[in-house]
Amino acid sequence: MGSTLEGRRVAVTGAAGGIGHAIVTRLLAEGAEPIGLDVTGLDRLPEGVPGLEADLTSAESISAVVSALYADDDRAVDLVNSAGIVEDDVPAEDMSVGQFDAVHGVNIRGVFITSQAFGRELLARGGGSIVNIASMSGNALVNWPQKQSAYNSSKAAVSALSRSLAVEWGGRGVRVNTVSPGYVDTPLNHLKAHMHDRWKRDTVLGRFATPEEVAGAVAFLLGPDAGYFAGAELLMDGGSSLR
Ligand SMILES: NC(=O)c1ccc[n+]([C@@H]2O[C@H](COP(=O)([O-])OP(=O)(O)OC[C@H]3O[C@@H](n4cnc5c(N)ncnc54)[C@H](O)[C@@H]3O)[C@@H](O)[C@H]2O)c1
Repeated sequence: MGSTLEGRRVAVTGAAGGIGHAIVTRLLAEGAEPIGLDVTGLDRLPEGVPGLEADLTSAESISAVVSALYADDDRAVDLVNSAGIVEDDVPAEDMSVGQFDAVHGVNIRGVFITSQAFGRELLARGGGSIVNIASMSGNALVNWPQKQSAYNSSKAAVSALSRSLAVEWGGRGVRVNTVSPGYVDTPLNHLKAHMHDRWKRDTVLGRFATPEEVAGAVAFLLGPDAGYFAGAELLMDGGSSLR
């Protein structure tokens, strides 16, 4: 394993989830110092990865986490936003505004809150790297047969926010980029297990991505090999959007 992330501190939201867990595992293997943030499941983090309770829907919670991270260590903390939720197959005409808000509250409002709080500290220290996990559902295609208009629109917003932050902050050393995966077998999709075979058939590669493959793309964008990537979106959808 390369060591381009050696010694870098990286906070990962949603670290107890399928993709977040793979990201902290990968970062640890690369010699980085990942810190796992989540609302639940912190006891599942790999050995050696400190966990902090953090709720993306609360600016106060994220502010407290950032203060704790810099309390007695001034080294920059990069950020990976992996936390996210999806509604369960809800037709748009039946969706309550509360359901829509709940998804947007985590997926885009939460990404803004964390990016702003961590971004301010990176700007103050002359630079750093932020990677947000959006989705192929944002811009590349509209998933089918499941109906998830709140999720899809929130992910399109993550891509747009990432590009906007990249432009505002790139000249001051903070690179902001996005990884947009296709289907990955994680708890996020477990309620829709009856659709998995169809999703695989709809994918050129005929399978889901592994969380480890997503983690590899994140590690690349975080690190110096991606030094000229600003506002990029790595679409890794196994060819789904080509069908
Ligand atoms: N699994 C897929 O097929 C897939 C495809 C494309 C994109 N994504 C995106 O990848 C990211 C990770 O998804 P996953 O598949 O690992 O899902 P997951 O359900 O396994 O993990 C999501 C994690 O986010 C955490 N979380 C939820 N609300 C939170 C909050 N308010 N504050 C802090 N943490 C919170 C959960 O506790 C969970 O640990 C998400 O943004 C998701 O939208 C997933």
